[in-house]
Amino acid sequence: MADIRIVEVSPRDGLQNEAIAVPTEQKAQLIANLLKAGLKEIEVSSFVSPKWVPQLGDVEDLWPMLPPGGIYSTLVPNEKGLERAQALGVERIALFTAASDAFTQKNINMTVEQSLEVFARIRSNFKGFVRGYVSTIFECPYAGRIEPSRVREVIDRLLEIGVDEISLGDTIGVGVPQEVKQLHTELSGLDQSKIVWHFHDTRGTAIANVAAALDLGYNSFDSSAAGLGGCPYAKGAGGNLATEDLVYFAERSGLSTGVDLNLLAQASLPILTTLQKPPTAKAQLAALASS
Ligand code: HMG
Ligand code: MG
Repeated sequence: MADIRIVEVSPRDGLQNEAIAVPTEQKAQLIANLLKAGLKEIEVSSFVSPKWVPQLGDVEDLWPMLPPGGIYSTLVPNEKGLERAQALGVERIALFTAASDAFTQKNINMTVEQSLEVFARIRSNFKGFVRGYVSTIFECPYAGRIEPSRVREVIDRLLEIGVDEISLGDTIGVGVPQEVKQLHTELSGLDQSKIVWHFHDTRGTAIANVAAALDLGYNSFDSSAAGLGGCPYAKGAGGNLATEDLVYFAERSGLSTGVDLNLLAQASLPILTTLQKPPTAKAQLAALASS
């Protein structure tokens, strides 16, 4: 059992915003590479509208190609998405809302309240594991700063609905450790093992935020190989926290992750070539340079 739990989101969060189409076989290969590197929990795609996010419109083709041995999850925005997921026997889904109505309107065409009503129906019709994302935990690109008390309200509603864990998203990567601490104060009484932090590194603060969350007793993080990603419906949402940076930081701090950093550094190279992007994550570059 590793000290740090990592949920790898690159096949979903990493690819949903890319202009260049990635062949389905290459997505399956990325997932196989990530698995080989030691990442077990992988968010592989989304059952969202292919009109809204064409990049992930191949999820029905991808699902049967997934290598055995992973714990795979997918985003589900509504009941139509649930139907599609259930038709494939998906056992873990992630519902996604936010602390800001302005954001959810742009992202899923619902208010936060409407999304929670849809999610309650989905939860009661789905027996498997359910994650609830809360995006824009510090700031919304459309509505500005978010009060920690508002984030707590949405978390409480998701827990009442019966989600199994909460992922807290700094969607546009503005947060600093002081804000992590402020939000933590607001989370008093919650089971910390149900909280996962989803930091973006848009302004280079993601690892500092991880350090703050670790100091506060949390040990679960979302991250994306090569720092791929961003939300198509959040202006300025840059890359996610790179899994390489997270693994390096944790292991060097004496916390096991179960991930082989050298294999991980290689895992995303074919996809980066397809996307015509050089690797930029610092710990990935360092691992590639020394291997
Ligand atoms: P809508 O247009 O309001 O949907 O979109 P609708 O219910 O009015 O239906 C319109 C048409 O879409 C209908 O088809 C439906 O059947 C179809 P038509 O009758 O016109 O032929 N439809 C669907 N088709 C396939 N799958 C579905 C589905 N639902 C409806 N699930 C909707 C509403 C939620 C579908 C849309 O807004 C959507 O797909 N949004 C998802 C956008 C997205 O994926 N955003 C990125 C997520 S990342 C994120 O949120 C942040 C996160 O990474 C954490 C962080 O960093 O903070 C999680
Ligand atoms: Mg994200």
